[in-house]
Amino acid sequence: MSLNSEIERRRTFAIVSHPDAGKTTLTEKLLLFGGAIHVAGAVKSNKIKKTATSDFMEIERQRGISVATSVMGFEYSRYKVNILDTPGHQDFQEDTFRTLTAVDSVIIVIDAAKGVEPQTEKLMNVCRMRKTPVIIFINKMDRPADDTFTLLEDVEEQLKIITRPLSWPINSGPGFKGVYNLFNSTLQLFSPNIQEIDPGIKFNDLSDPELEKWLGTIDSDRLREDVELIEGVYPEFDTEEYLKGNMAPVFFGSALYNFGVQELLDAFVKIAPWPQPIIAQERIVDPYEESFSGFVFKIHANIDPNHRSRIAFVKVCSGRFERNKVYKHMRLNKTFRVSAPTAFMASKKEIIEESFPGDIIGIPDTGNFIIGDTLTQGEDLHFKGLPSFSPELFRYIENADPMKSKQLEKGIDQLMDEGVAQLFTSQLNNRKIIGCVGQLQFEVIQYRLEHEYGAKCRFEPIQMYKACWIESDNTAIMEEFKKRKVQRMAKDKRNRDVFMADSSFILDMAQQDFKEIRFKFTSEL
Ligand code: G4P
Repeated sequence: MSLNSEIERRRTFAIVSHPDAGKTTLTEKLLLFGGAIHVAGAVKSNKIKKTATSDFMEIERQRGISVATSVMGFEYSRYKVNILDTPGHQDFQEDTFRTLTAVDSVIIVIDAAKGVEPQTEKLMNVCRMRKTPVIIFINKMDRPADDTFTLLEDVEEQLKIITRPLSWPINSGPGFKGVYNLFNSTLQLFSPNIQEIDPGIKFNDLSDPELEKWLGTIDSDRLREDVELIEGVYPEFDTEEYLKGNMAPVFFGSALYNFGVQELLDAFVKIAPWPQPIIAQERIVDPYEESFSGFVFKIHANIDPNHRSRIAFVKVCSGRFERNKVYKHMRLNKTFRVSAPTAFMASKKEIIEESFPGDIIGIPDTGNFIIGDTLTQGEDLHFKGLPSFSPELFRYIENADPMKSKQLEKGIDQLMDEGVAQLFTSQLNNRKIIGCVGQLQFEVIQYRLEHEYGAKCRFEPIQMYKACWIESDNTAIMEEFKKRKVQRMAKDKRNRDVFMADSSFILDMAQQDFKEIRFKFTSEL
C-alpha cells in the first residue's frame, strides 16, 4: 500500500471524559467492534478511584495496566484506528493534555444525567486551543436524563462549541426506546439484552405510519416534532466546520449496553481526520513527506521494577518509520537505530518493521529520551506545542536519607523526564521545588522514589501561587527584573527563567512594574 493510502486510512484519536462518564466502557466496546478484544472486561480502567488515593499497590497495578492500554490499535473495515488512552484522574491531567497533542481528533464522553462536568470543560478548552475536531457521545441514556434540547444547550454553552446532533434519543431511563440516526435515517431500537449488531429500520419519510408500530403514537409524534425542530434550529452538519474544530457532531447511546456505539464508530471513521500537518519550529511538516519525523509525547518508565526499562512513545508525523534504519535524535544531536520498535494492539505489543503517520511506536529507552524530543531522518526539526502548565501545588523536596542522595537525584531527574511533575531550582538557596497539578502526584513521587530508586524524600510546605516563565525582548529589563526579584527566581529543568510568585498580588505588581516582560503560564517543552 502506498504511503498516501496508509495515511488516509489512519484515525488516531483519544476518548476523554470526566471520571465515571464511561470512557473506559466506551473504549472497550469500540475494541470489541474492532475485534481487538473478544470479551468485555479485558480493558481495565487505569483510573485511580477516589477511595484508593493512598492505595499505592493500586497505583502500581494500574500503571502496569496503563502501559498495555496506552495505545490501542485495531483494524476496522479499511481503517486503522489508534485509540490513545488518557488517565481519568484529574491529578494526572497534564499527562492527558500531552496525549492530546498526539491525536488528530477526540471523542468526548458525557454522562447524560450529569451533563458537562468540570473535567469535561477543561479538556474541551485544550481541544479548542489546538482546534482539534471533537465528536460528543452522550452516554448512559438508559438512565434518566434531562430533556435532550436542554442538555445540548448546556453542552453548547459550557463547552463553547456549536453542536449538531447526528442521532436523537427517544426518551431516557426506563422509557428509553432507542435512537433515530439522523445521519442515515434509521431507527435503532434499544434492548439491554441484545448485543449483536442491529442494522436498524430505515425510514425514507418519518411520517410513515410504520413508525407507530415501533414507537407507539406518543413517542412517534414526539420524534417527528423533535426532528422537525432539530432541522429548523440546528445548522446542517458541515464536515468542514467539524474538521476546523468549530462544530461537534453529537451521538447518543449507552456504552454499557453496547448501544449507539457502532453508529458512533461508523460515523467516526467516515468523518474524523486522518493525520494532519504538524507545526514544527522551522516549518509545517506534512504527513505525506517521504522523510520520517516524529516526536516523543509520553515516557513510561520502570515497567518492570527489576530492570530500568522505559518506553518512549513516539507519534509518527511524516514519512515511513522503518526498523533498524538510522534516525537523528535532535536534542542530543546523535544518530541511533531502533532495533525493537513496538506497536500496540489492544493488550499486546509486538515488534514492527514499519510505521506510518498517525501511528504510535514504542521505543525501548535507557534514558535518552525526554518528552518533547524530535526524531528525524536527518533534517533539523523541532516539533513544538507540547504544553507544560503552571502547576498549582508546590512543595520543597528534601532528602530524607543522606546516604542515598545520588539515588534521589537520579530518581527526581528521571521522574521529571517522564513528566510526572515539574522541578524548579530556587536561585536564592538552590532548594528544589516540585510543582504538581494534584496532591496525588506528590504521593506517587514519594512512593516511586522509594520503590524504584531506593531513595527517601520529604516534602516541606512553601508559600507559592504560580510559576511563570518569563520572556522579554529587552535584555536589560530582563536582567533588572531578575536582579530585583532574585529571591523569587528559579530555573526549570531546562534552565529557563521562572518567576515564582507567592501571591496573586505579587504577580500583579510584577506585571504592572515590568510591562516589557511577558509572563507565561504554560511553557512549551
Ligand atoms: P470512566 O472510564 O469514564 O471513568 O468510566 P467507566 O467506563 O469506568 O464507567 C463508570 C461507571 O459507569 C461504571 O460503573 C460503568 O459500568 C458505568 N457505565 C458506563 N457506561 C454506562 C452506560 O451506558 N449506562 C450505565 N447505566 N452505566 C454505565 P461502576 O459501577 O463504577 O463500575 P463497574 O463496577 O461496573 O466496572
